[in-house]
Amino acid sequence: MIPEITLNTGAKMPVLGLGTWKSAPGIVGEAVRAALEECGYRHIDCAAIYGNEPEVGEAFTNVFSKKQIKREEVFVTSKLWNNMHRADEVEVACKKSLSDLKLDYLDLYLMHWGVATIPDRPDQPANQRGEPLNKDGVLELTSASIRETWEAMEKLVKQGLVKAIGVANFTGIMLTDLLTYAKIKPAMNQVELHPYNQQQRLVDFCKYNDIAVTGYSPLGSPGNAKQDAPNLLADELILKLSKQYKKTSAQILVRWAIQRGTVTIPKSTHAERLKENIDVFDFALVEADMKEIAGLERRYRFVDPYDWWKIPYFD
Ligand code: A2P
Repeated sequence: MIPEITLNTGAKMPVLGLGTWKSAPGIVGEAVRAALEECGYRHIDCAAIYGNEPEVGEAFTNVFSKKQIKREEVFVTSKLWNNMHRADEVEVACKKSLSDLKLDYLDLYLMHWGVATIPDRPDQPANQRGEPLNKDGVLELTSASIRETWEAMEKLVKQGLVKAIGVANFTGIMLTDLLTYAKIKPAMNQVELHPYNQQQRLVDFCKYNDIAVTGYSPLGSPGNAKQDAPNLLADELILKLSKQYKKTSAQILVRWAIQRGTVTIPKSTHAERLKENIDVFDFALVEADMKEIAGLERRYRFVDPYDWWKIPYFD
């Protein structure tokens, strides 16, 4: 059994989940099946923009049809993409994710980023990720405010399409503003967290406001990292602790994330790594080692949307 946290809705959420960003079609379905059936995962983190929800949905249908694992036993998150932020689009986007995932409700639905882009147009200049750019190469935004989007997301809860709503990539000031009008408080803020980017003040602020925190890229996103990016799995201290605890670097990082009170979602599509990343409940890092890892902070983001959008989102 994986330990769980209690969200501000009262719902339980396993502290460890499987991330599916960059899990390729053709592979992701098997990873989700293996994670659920062979490794004991009960939390899968998805998003419309990952482009693999239909295949994840097939894996869910396959697993749940065998009746060993029930739908209610698995915590499923999906995320609203930036091009569906207008009030009349939010329900459409949520229903599309539900239909792709072949589910009749989501446990958690997150606003993926606090930016709203224009509807997709085939003739629109775009970056390598297919996102619309204006003539200056800056992300082409539309006028939907975060408030408009959030209020539409609140309706999803009332309709029973989602059990909880939250945000991702929100900064302290974005949350501060959201909390002034939210009738339903966000249950979650999912942000990039690992020893090189700990965001301790943001984590504390979320806790103070009863907003749970999930950290993405907990392993330093090795498959995805830019050329000059640091290698977190090969960090000297992490390697030293790995030897000391007889655990792998990945296990030290996952354990650290959980012990600091955050939810973590390491991504893998390899069976042995799926097992490795969840095998972290038979040891604990002592306080001195937790502190030493905290000393690795260098405010390094593996995911900085400025690279894609030319918007100084985190500045
Ligand atoms: P793969 O999917 O091929 O196993 P993050 O969650 O920080 O974004 O990291 C995901 C990346 O880390 C993926 O490239 C994944 O590769 C790799 N990865 C996942 N688990 C491990 C592990 N236990 N050891 C080394 N690399 C891992």
